[in-house]
Amino acid sequence: MPKPRIAVIIGSTRKARFADKPAQWLMGKIKDHAELDFELVDLRDFDLPFFDEAASNLWVPSSDPRAVAWQDKLAQFDGYLFIVAEYNRSITGALKNALDQAYKEWNRKPMAALAYGSLGGARALEHLRNSAVELQMVPLRNAVHIGGGDFFKVWTGGQDAPISEIEDHLQGSLDAMLEELVWWTRATKAAREG
Ligand SMILES: Cc1cc2nc3c(=O)[nH]c(=O)nc-3n(C[C@H](O)[C@H](O)[C@H](O)COP(=O)(O)O)c2cc1C
Repeated sequence: MPKPRIAVIIGSTRKARFADKPAQWLMGKIKDHAELDFELVDLRDFDLPFFDEAASNLWVPSSDPRAVAWQDKLAQFDGYLFIVAEYNRSITGALKNALDQAYKEWNRKPMAALAYGSLGGARALEHLRNSAVELQMVPLRNAVHIGGGDFFKVWTGGQDAPISEIEDHLQGSLDAMLEELVWWTRATKAAREG
């Protein structure tokens, strides 16, 4: 049986983003996962306009083909793992817009996260979890946070050390998050298909 599919969504789109570094590290760690298949999904590739639809696609099909392409992509997955940057104590505007550009596709699927920032992106992730509830996702308790001295060590604006140098600090939370993600992916997939 094919493994359930999880989209790893990069939530920052700016040219100088740090996001690629944790995203690539994470993809290396999860590429041969026994239970789940992961695919990197980059918001940059979707060129989403600011939301300008008559309503959420729960009520009215979206008219902009870029929004529809985004929804079609999201529909391919059984869960989501967000790479979360913290901008002014929240998620990026680009990620919030991307959340708003779909509704049905997010529903009844788990959402995990790797967040980063001075406080590990914790405040941004709490905002993301809150939006995820409205979108009827299941936000996981466990997440990977790169914060404090670790963040400034690996951040491209700081010492720019490889993430492998702080990996020991991340492995426990990564394992816990993946274990939880497997459980909720299986549970929600079985229920959606039942
Ligand atoms: C507009 C803006 C707001 C930011 N606000 C915060 C913040 O509230 N908390 C924080 O820890 N870092 C903040 N930062 C620093 C980011 O953590 C850092 O720039 C990080 O690299 C952003 O992710 P990205 O490079 O993947 O876009 C902010 C950066 C920008 C550009």
